[in-house]
Amino acid sequence: MKRILLAMTTAVLALGIYAIPPGTNDEIAERLKPAGSVCRTGEGCGSSAVAVATGSMSGEEIYKQFCFVCHATGVSDAPRLGDTDAWQPRVDKGVETLVTTTLNGLNAMPPKGTCMSCSDDELGSAVTYMLDQL
Ligand code: HEC
Repeated sequence: MKRILLAMTTAVLALGIYAIPPGTNDEIAERLKPAGSVCRTGEGCGSSAVAVATGSMSGEEIYKQFCFVCHATGVSDAPRLGDTDAWQPRVDKGVETLVTTTLNGLNAMPPKGTCMSCSDDELGSAVTYMLDQL
C-alpha cells in the first residue's frame, strides 16, 4: 500500500512539473485570457442590449429593468406588483390577452413596456413573473 501511495505521489509530482507550460507568469496569463475576455468581443458586454440579444433575460430581470418603473409604484394607475385587487380583473382576461396588451400597449401602458428589444417570449415571461407575485 505504501508503495502504491509513493508511486502515485511521484506520478502527481511529475505531472505537476511537466503540466506547467513554459513561460513567464505574464505569458501564461495572456494565454489564459480568451476564456475571461469573451465579453470583449461584443460591444458593451453586460449592458441590457447584449443581455436581451442573447435571450438570456428572465422575466424577473425584465421586470426589474423595464416594468418596475411603473408597476412598483403604480405610475399612471399601473397595477402594482403583488396588488391582487388591482390585478384580479386583468387576470380574468386570461394570460394570453395580458401578453397581447403588453406587446401592443394599453392607454398609459407603453407597447412592450418600453423593452423594445425584448422578444415576445421574454415579455411573456415578464408578465408571468408579475402574475406569479399575486
Ligand atoms: C410607463 C409605465 C409602464 C411601464 C414601463 C410598464 N407598464 Fe404595464 N401598465 C402600465 C399602465 C398605466 C397600465 C394600466 C393600463 C390600463 O389599464 O389603462 C399597465 C398595465 C399592464 C398590464 C395589464 C394589461 C391589461 O390588459 O390589463 C400588464 C400585463 C402589464 N402592464 C405588463 C407590463 C410589463 C410586462 C412591463 C415591462 C416589460 C410593463 N408593463 C411596463 C404602465 C407601464
